[in-house]
Amino acid sequence: MKGIAFLLTYLVYCSNIDPIRADSPEVCLEDSSCVLGEYMSGNEIDSFEAFLGIPFAKPPIGDLRFSNPEEAELWNGTLSAVYPKPVCIQRDYLNVSKPISGSEDCLYLNIYRPLRGGGGELPVMFYIHGGGFFAGSPNPSFIGPLYFMDTSDVILVVAAYRLGLFGFLSTNDEEMTGNYGLKDQKLALQWVKKYISAFGGDPDRVTIFGHSAGASAVHLHLMNNNQEGLFSNAIMMSGTANTPFALPINDPRDQVVNLAIAAGVNEAEDLSSADLVQALRSIEPEALLLAADNLKLWAEQPLVIFHPNIESETWPGAFLTNDPSDPSIPFGGVTDIPWIIGNAPSKGEALVIALRLASNTSLQEELNESFSSRLSIALSLPATCDTEDVIDTLVTEYMDGKHNLNNDTLNGFLELLGDAYFIYPTYKLLKYNVNSRRSDFKGIIHFDYRGPYSFSGYFTNSLTDFGVSHYDDTLFLFDGPPGLSNGYSKESREAALVRRFVRVYQSFAANGYSDEFAGIEECNDLNFPNCEYLSIVKDEKPFKTGNTWNLKRMTIWEQIYDIC
Ligand SMILES: *[C@@H]1O[C@H](CO)[C@@H](O)[C@H](O)[C@H]1NC(C)=O
Ligand SMILES: *[C@@H]1O[C@H](CO)[C@@H](O)[C@H](O)[C@H]1NC(C)=O
Ligand SMILES: *[C@@H]1O[C@H](CO)[C@@H](O)[C@H](O)[C@H]1NC(C)=O
Ligand SMILES: *[C@@H]1O[C@H](CO)[C@@H](O)[C@H](O)[C@H]1NC(C)=O
Ligand SMILES: *[C@@H]1O[C@H](CO)[C@@H](O)[C@H](O)[C@H]1NC(C)=O
Repeated sequence: MKGIAFLLTYLVYCSNIDPIRADSPEVCLEDSSCVLGEYMSGNEIDSFEAFLGIPFAKPPIGDLRFSNPEEAELWNGTLSAVYPKPVCIQRDYLNVSKPISGSEDCLYLNIYRPLRGGGGELPVMFYIHGGGFFAGSPNPSFIGPLYFMDTSDVILVVAAYRLGLFGFLSTNDEEMTGNYGLKDQKLALQWVKKYISAFGGDPDRVTIFGHSAGASAVHLHLMNNNQEGLFSNAIMMSGTANTPFALPINDPRDQVVNLAIAAGVNEAEDLSSADLVQALRSIEPEALLLAADNLKLWAEQPLVIFHPNIESETWPGAFLTNDPSDPSIPFGGVTDIPWIIGNAPSKGEALVIALRLASNTSLQEELNESFSSRLSIALSLPATCDTEDVIDTLVTEYMDGKHNLNNDTLNGFLELLGDAYFIYPTYKLLKYNVNSRRSDFKGIIHFDYRGPYSFSGYFTNSLTDFGVSHYDDTLFLFDGPPGLSNGYSKESREAALVRRFVRVYQSFAANGYSDEFAGIEECNDLNFPNCEYLSIVKDEKPFKTGNTWNLKRMTIWEQIYDIC
């Protein structure tokens, strides 16, 4: 009875998986290690194959909590890979009413492919989900594979990685080196390199792509000095390594001590790093996640508290040894990986940072009570930039000089957050890297199409239309979370946009290029920023050429970062 109830719940939860067909697809990685997947119903095609919950690392529990991930041993026999695994345990600050969910044992990946692998040697797309490094899910109810599978021309892989304190805490020494979430992603990429040919994928044509923190992670993989040919193309949408939410914090070890104190570890200030790690390993994961609430300075701000950190090259498995804020080395010497970058409009990008501040008047009043200090918390400016003068300069430019948030200053406030976290970091990355001698830059996407669904309601918890939101472009790549995207009717212009937008990604994965950029003037160090980008807008002809940056604002940010 229990089993049936579970099955029914499951079918409702993820109704396009059909777990009862007898001729399930099977793939063998090695002679005695096989996986049994499932057929899923397609969108414009009949069906495709899904292999859900394949382990790529040993469960990061016990002594492996706060340790570099270790490769999972292959199993003996046939692994049933028909249900998604629990998400990596998380406290989701994007929606604080959501209870803690997931499990520490979460390092699994999902693979989707055309029937029987579509004949072999397909390009592989490896997606890194977003969620500020503290939330998100690789599972098909969130990252739906239907649209990519409609192309029948690509294998999609989506892997989990450790989140929040489990993925990004560091004592800033060898005891707890940090960057575990990024190392998990890299181990998943190594798994793909080793085994994807068994699924019909081409291990030499792997494209890494991501949104938001997932895009920051893509950028960090580009900076990684030991990529070992794990990927050949990269796409970053709405996220970079040099955004304030991803930049290393100054004092990662202090953060560990503060977390330990909040979690009730005795005399945490006096413990050695080794003892701190030992103490934190003995605490229940939920208790640690709740203790981390104490590291918030105001409301949900700063939104992201656990960041990637810079490691010493001598630490075992060091992932990030360059400073991502240094524009001269953002690609760690990589010159031959074609890459695309993109954003939504500044105001919409900001919604994921502002969250309910965009709509909740009592939160706005709280901000107003202590405007400069709370604004600087929300901006996560580097400590050296965090001065009254800098805040005044920004408020003058964006909020008409008014030090309070109200309906008149709301748009400017959002543009301020959007430029701080998304637009200026993209601009800076481009400014130093469109030079073709230093990298193989292929183009910019500006996504400005609001369809029938938008993340704006999800982030702001209101019905107000804030235009195109951060993450809205994902609704044209993946069939998304329930309620946010139930698909588009076949004749709609949204369905046409899905086909065309997915093709941009798929052809980039196949050839390192997309025809949609053909008529667009290439950016280089001579014409930047007066070069063109691909602009996707709500219009009869949704693919346009655009070329406007707010140069005045970009210059203000450059001056701010110059002095600090
Ligand atoms: C698989 O079987 C071999 C030979 O019996 C054994 O050495 C190995 O440990 C087994 N692996 C697993 C993951 O059980
Ligand atoms: C936030 O989470 C709560 C509890 O899970 C849920 O009821 C609510 O719908 C969520 N809010 C949004 C905007 O999704
Ligand atoms: C606004 O935010 C406050 C503080 O988090 C909360 O108590 C209140 O319920 C929110 N109001 C609305 C209308 O969502
Ligand atoms: C503070 O926030 C509220 C938001 O409801 C707004 O109406 C008010 O004008 C703001 N400014 C001041 C100075 O209180
Ligand atoms: C501010 O805008 C909101 C949403 O549009 C509206 O409900 C509210 O009445 C406005 N407040 C003022 C003081 O105009």
